[in-house]
Amino acid sequence: MQHPEQPRPVILTGDRTTGPLHLGHYVGSLKNRVALQDSHRQYLLLADAQALTDNAHNPTRVRDNVIEIVLDYLAVGIDPMLTTICVQSHLPALSDLTLLYMNFVTVARLERNPTIKDEIQAREFGRDIPAGFLCYPVAQAADITAFKASIVPVGEDQAPLIEQTNEVVRRINRQAGHDVLLEAQALIPPVGRLPGVDGKEKMSKSQGNAIPLSATPDEIRDAVRRMFTDPNHLRASDPGCVEGNVVFTYLDAFDNEQAVVADLKDRYRRGGLGDSVVKERLDNVLQALLAPIRERRRALARDPGYVISIVKEGTLRSRELTNSTLKEVRTALGLFMLE
Ligand code: TRP
Repeated sequence: MQHPEQPRPVILTGDRTTGPLHLGHYVGSLKNRVALQDSHRQYLLLADAQALTDNAHNPTRVRDNVIEIVLDYLAVGIDPMLTTICVQSHLPALSDLTLLYMNFVTVARLERNPTIKDEIQAREFGRDIPAGFLCYPVAQAADITAFKASIVPVGEDQAPLIEQTNEVVRRINRQAGHDVLLEAQALIPPVGRLPGVDGKEKMSKSQGNAIPLSATPDEIRDAVRRMFTDPNHLRASDPGCVEGNVVFTYLDAFDNEQAVVADLKDRYRRGGLGDSVVKERLDNVLQALLAPIRERRRALARDPGYVISIVKEGTLRSRELTNSTLKEVRTALGLFMLE
């Protein structure tokens, strides 16, 4: 328990608003955020401006998923009394800080950022990379510092962005002559990424291998039925392999009765246990996990006024905080100010 007098450490994290969230987000981050909100001052950023850096041709997608993601947050148990939910594009101080920080970062350094390098390759941008995309690490530095976050929960692939944020922080502090900004620490989840239902490394909506949090019972059943197992496990009587077998990876991640899972693994390895039995177990586990989330999500979707009010309040509160940080930075650097 935190002492009530002690200020809670500030957490900022967020999601690009490019699609509704799925089981990979649930194990990798959402579950953790629900736990962290009791002991931290938590802000969740709906990163619609960042989503636009590689979706400028599809603004509808970016817009529509803002509310979809809020529904996901609330449905899994993010409590708006404990966590502030806000919209990135409606916090002008973030753009102001981005523009300012761009003068403290070189293009060469941005091009060397491993996250950006990988993403340029994956999206086949080559030299035709949108300038906004190349600069999104600077915008993310603005996000993190504007909220004075000391802890930033992100996937492993985002760690270089936190490193680059701290470089900006040190440069600004050096220029200011004192520590106006805080360095932040990445909080990387101990569990690895959840693979897609097809066995590919990563669950992702664009790969069509994801189970969204809003999946219907039929969609869950279908996804489990299609799930990648051991391609050499042809007959139930054959010994099977558990490693790299997605059904077991998911049971490890979602089944609360790990003793039962251990027993299933034993029997599968020895031979005599069919895929269908293991899949049946996983189907039950996922149905039980997702049913209440889907119900809450559906009920919230029927009350858009309430959902919008949560986002509005959170964004207003965040606007005050980020505006005040912007003012502090401008003052510290000795920039011109009318008031
Ligand atoms: N880049 C993050 C992602 O792809 C989203 C994000 C935007 C973010 N701003 C942030 C994460 C600030 C942590 C802190 O998921």
